[in-house]
Amino acid sequence: MSVSKKVFIKTYGCQMNVYDSARMADVLAPLGFSRTEEPEGAELVILNTCHIREKAAEKVYSELGRFKRLKRAREAQGEPFMIAVGGCVAQAEGAALVARAPFVDIVFGPQTYHRLPEMLVRANEGETVVDTEFPLEEKFDHLPEEREAPGVVAFLTVQEGCDRFCTFCVVPYTRGAESSRPVAAIEAEARRLAAQGARELVLLGQNVNAYHGPGENGSPWTLARLIERLSAIEGIARIRYTTSHPRDMTEDLIAAHGTCAKLMPYLHLPVQSGSDRVLARMNRRHRAEQYLRIVERLRRARPDIALASDFIVGFPGETEADFEATLELVRAVGYAQAYSFKYSPRPGTPAAEMKDAVPEALKAERLERLQALLREQQRSFNRTCVGASVEVLFERAGRRRGQAQGRSPHMQAVHVASRMSLVGALRPVRLVGAGPHGLAGELLAPSDARASA
Ligand code: SAH
Ligand code: SF4
Ligand code: F3S
Repeated sequence: MSVSKKVFIKTYGCQMNVYDSARMADVLAPLGFSRTEEPEGAELVILNTCHIREKAAEKVYSELGRFKRLKRAREAQGEPFMIAVGGCVAQAEGAALVARAPFVDIVFGPQTYHRLPEMLVRANEGETVVDTEFPLEEKFDHLPEEREAPGVVAFLTVQEGCDRFCTFCVVPYTRGAESSRPVAAIEAEARRLAAQGARELVLLGQNVNAYHGPGENGSPWTLARLIERLSAIEGIARIRYTTSHPRDMTEDLIAAHGTCAKLMPYLHLPVQSGSDRVLARMNRRHRAEQYLRIVERLRRARPDIALASDFIVGFPGETEADFEATLELVRAVGYAQAYSFKYSPRPGTPAAEMKDAVPEALKAERLERLQALLREQQRSFNRTCVGASVEVLFERAGRRRGQAQGRSPHMQAVHVASRMSLVGALRPVRLVGAGPHGLAGELLAPSDARASA
């Protein structure tokens, strides 16, 4: 029976959740479900949640209130409506989520969503389903080969979970132990994505450069070797990977940035703090100096590489001197982009037990200072690119009519005027201006292209 039904999936958190949401839709497609952007017309609503910081979970509960009203209204008319909560809040809260929001029908974790069809059957029979196991069977072996058509840029999870246990982080608990998919499975998925029109692959993992999946003969491959293999796929013009841990930045991966033409000159390499004392308390297992040396080696391999990072300010015990060490590291690196957060204690993590919390007001003040510096660095990076000619991969129509939008090799958003749809095209563009929402460019004839600046 394949009556057409609609599922509304709302995604919070990281790119891995974006990938998972797409795969949930793939799992549900054989049951007749197609994705909709409007919850009002859906029979099934899935919230794919994130637990990384406090407000993320609170947002989920307030969003659930809204769906509760929708569910009551639909049920009053005798229409079916189910609410499922997946992702990292679901994994962390489990049955507690149903206790707080009893109108929820299904709670499932990041490692069990391949079982959604059977969960739906059980829920239809009136059961409240909670499935947040870390099952022994491999989720990826149970996901359908078929994927909904990807965009120009396709996410592809190659590694999941994390064994690093940074003291502030919930990921090792919500996603489970680190595991890598086999090379052959990844390559097959990448080829299908390319055949469906993807031109850029973003290889995903909570700690993606710890990748060590088995190759053809069963021995583990590094991420660098995997990237080299994938770069042979025709149609794929660009490869990126995210997110990396500095300690797993191996020699061969650094070298790949110099030798693999499809590997883009942009790297998100979170450092979190510039203070060795704080880094130690975070259990990051590297010092600021080692991070700076990795950056140096990356720049030697690929001089134009642009760097991005994540920062946490106000980690327990962070002093003014510690914070200044972070500012100093930022000045030493010069980032093209960054994400920065106030430390948020996560239940069950070691840092949540640390006594010397930094007052909220001080966290806010430090965040403001750090972000001012990072904003200035991003602006100045964008300004130095004006005048350069770069290859832009076009992803969508622009915000305004007659505009097309894409990304530079350095991940900057670029807008050009174009009456044609350029979606999927890789075209040389001269960057002519830098604004708050990215760069303005002008299309060049292919012959005008110079090597990118
Ligand atoms: N796996 C990635 C990051 C995962 S979480 C890595 O190792 O870098 C994404 C970012 O959220 C982290 O880099 C960190 O900066 C931030 N973050 C994680 N836990 C946090 C917490 N408890 N409070 C504030 N920010 C946090
Ligand atoms: Fe979390 Fe990343 Fe640390 Fe793993 S490496 S514990 S995902 S911050
Ligand atoms: Fe959030 Fe889970 Fe990703 S906590 S950042 S959705 S791994």
